[in-house]
Amino acid sequence: MSPQEQSAPPAVWKSLDGIAYGGDYNPEQWPVSTRLEDLELMKEAGVTFLSVGIFSWGLLEPTEGTYDFGWLDEVLDNLATSGIKVALATATAAPPAWLVRKHPEILPVTADGTVLGPGSRRHYSPSSAVYRRYATGITRALAERYKDHPALALWHVDNELGCHVSEFYGDEDAAAFRAWLERRYGNIEALNASWGTAFWSQHYASFEEILPPGAAPSTLNPGQQLDFQRFSSWSLMDYYRTLLEVLRDVTPGVPATTNLMVSSATKSMDYFDWAKDLDVIANDHYLVAADPERQIELAFSADLTRGVAGGHPWILMEHSTSAVNWQPRNQPKMPGEMLRNSLAHVARGADAVMFFQWRQSFAGSEKFHSAMVPHGGRETRIFREVVGLGAALQKLAPVKGSRVESRVAVVFDYEAWWASEIDSKPSVDVRYLDLLRDFHRSLFLRGVSADFVHPSASLAGYALVLVCTLYNVTDAAAANIASAAREGATILVSYFSGIVDEQDHVRLGGYPGAFRDLLGVSVEEFYPLLAGSTAKLSDGGVGRVWSEHVHAAGAEVVSAFTEYPLEGAPALTRRSVGAGAAWYLATFPDRDGIEALVDRLLDESGVAAVAGADQGVELTRRRNADGTSFVFAINHSRTDATVRVAGTELLSGERFTGMVPAGAVAVVAED
Ligand code: GAL
Repeated sequence: MSPQEQSAPPAVWKSLDGIAYGGDYNPEQWPVSTRLEDLELMKEAGVTFLSVGIFSWGLLEPTEGTYDFGWLDEVLDNLATSGIKVALATATAAPPAWLVRKHPEILPVTADGTVLGPGSRRHYSPSSAVYRRYATGITRALAERYKDHPALALWHVDNELGCHVSEFYGDEDAAAFRAWLERRYGNIEALNASWGTAFWSQHYASFEEILPPGAAPSTLNPGQQLDFQRFSSWSLMDYYRTLLEVLRDVTPGVPATTNLMVSSATKSMDYFDWAKDLDVIANDHYLVAADPERQIELAFSADLTRGVAGGHPWILMEHSTSAVNWQPRNQPKMPGEMLRNSLAHVARGADAVMFFQWRQSFAGSEKFHSAMVPHGGRETRIFREVVGLGAALQKLAPVKGSRVESRVAVVFDYEAWWASEIDSKPSVDVRYLDLLRDFHRSLFLRGVSADFVHPSASLAGYALVLVCTLYNVTDAAAANIASAAREGATILVSYFSGIVDEQDHVRLGGYPGAFRDLLGVSVEEFYPLLAGSTAKLSDGGVGRVWSEHVHAAGAEVVSAFTEYPLEGAPALTRRSVGAGAAWYLATFPDRDGIEALVDRLLDESGVAAVAGADQGVELTRRRNADGTSFVFAINHSRTDATVRVAGTELLSGERFTGMVPAGAVAVVAED
C-alpha cells in the first residue's frame, strides 16, 4: 500500500464498473443519424463513460433565457439506455455570443491591457460578477433538468480552468486581487512588511493603491508577483466553487470535478490546493510528439496527478488517440503507442481512460485533432486500436481501486515553482523542474516508482525523500522533512532549497536557512556557473548550472569541488540524523552523476525496482488493500524484453511467460 494518506475512495467510482472508458462527446456537431451510429460504435468499442456538453452553452441557451434542451435530452436518454454514464458539463467554458455582446466587460484582459475577444473559447474572466451570474444560471438550469437523469454520474465543471489564459488584469480582477490581499493580510502594514516595501519606495498607505503586477520600468516587487500568482490560482478555484455551490444545492449526492492539466508545462495553478474542492481528480494529458522521451513526461504527469489525488485513483479525462492539431508538427501516434500511453496512465493510478474526443470533427478549429472515430470511420487503424483498448481495459477490471506502490517521495510544491522562477535570482538556469525531473527520469528508467508529495503532507512510510530546489519553505514543512529523516528516511536536499520563507524573505545566518541544522552545512555564497560551463568534482563527476561555497558543519563530505575558487568546498555531503540520513547536493550533476547518486541513495534506503527487467520496460505495481498486486510492464523498446514476475497476465488471461513483446504491455496479477 502506498504511504500516501488514505481516506475513503471518491463516490464516483461506485457508479462506474471496471476501468471506465470513453471521451469527450460533442454530439451537437452531428445529425441524429450519426448520433445513432455513435451508439453502435460505442458499444463495439466498449465505451462506458463520456463527458458531454462542455462547449454547448451557445446551443443550449441560443438567446438569453430561452433554452433548447431537446437534443441533449435525446443524447442523454440514449446513452442511459446503452448503459453509458456521463460526466455532464456545466457548459460554461465558452460564453455564447449574445452574452459577450451584452456584457463585453466579462472578457479577459492581459497584462499589457489587451482585451481578448470572442470567436474562440474561454473568453471570460473568472472574477467577473456578471459572468458568474450567467454561468451559475446555465449551471442551475442544467442541474435542475438532469438532476435525476440515470446517465448522470459526475459533474464536469467548466473545462481546463486556466487553459489559454490563467492570469487576468482587468479592473474587476484588480479589485478582486485587492480584496484577496485584504483578507490575507488584514491590514496594509502587514502587507508592507511581507512585500518588503521599505525598499524602492514601494510603501502603500491603503489597499486601494495596489495594482496587479503589469508593465513596469524594471523588476516588480517579488511579494506582489508571488501573491498575484497565488491569487490567480485561487480566483479560478473560487469561480469553480461558485458553480459547485449551485450543483451541491440541486444535486447534493452527485460528485463534481474539473479537468486539470497536470504536466511539465502547467505552472500557474496550485493543484494541491485545488484538490481540496474536487470530489475526484481528473486530468488531461497530451504528449509532445517531438519529445523522444515523451513516455517519461507522461509518467511525470501521471505520478504528479496521483500526488494531487493523494494516492487515490483518478480519471484520465482527456488524451489523444493519435495526432493533436496544436503542435508545430502533429505526428500521429505510432502503432501500439496509444495502448501503451493509456495503460501507462492506468499503471500510475488512473481508473478511467478517456480521450478528446469521441468523433473527429469535420469543421472547426480541431478538425485535424485525432479522435476515437477518425474521419475515415470504422475501418481505420485508429478505430481498431480504440476497440482493442476497450477490450484490454475490460480485462483490467480487477485492478480498479488498487493503489500504486511507492517508497520514494519527490517533494513537489507549485509555490516553490512560482517563487523560484520569479526574476532577479542568482541564475536564470535554475528552473524548478529540471533537477526534479532528472531524478524522476532516473527512477523511471530503473523501474522504481515515486510519489509526488506536497511538502506539508505526511512523509511517513517513505524510505527515500528527494527535495529539489525547494526555494521557499514554511517552518512546518521544513520540520516535516526533518522529522522524516529522524524517523529513518534517507533525505536528499538540493541547492537553492530552504533559502526563504513563505513571504520570500531570506532566512538569515547562512543558507539554506530552513535545512542548515538538518543537513549540517552552511552555505556562504552562491557561485552559479556561466552558460555551458561545468564544475569538476572530486568523485570524477561534473556539476552543471550551480556551485556554491559550502562549509561542512557536522556533515561528512562525500565529494568536493576541485577547481578555483571553490577547490575543496563540499559538493555532496551526508549527515546521519536519528534513524535516517540527510544528504546535501550543492550542484546539478550531469546524467552519469545523477545515476551514481541515485544508485547510492536507493542502496542506502533499501529501495528496489518493481522487478528485474530488460532496458526499455516501464514498471509499476498497483496493490489492493487485500494484498493482491498487479505489475504493469510496458515495453517501449522495439525488441522483445524479459521481465521477472510470476503470475497470470490479465490481457491474455494466460500464465505470464516472462517475455513482453516489442511495443507491448503485460499486466501480471502476481501469484
Ligand atoms: C484540451 C481541451 C479540449 C481539446 C483538447 C485538444 O485542452 O480541453 O477541449 O481542445 O485540448 O488537444
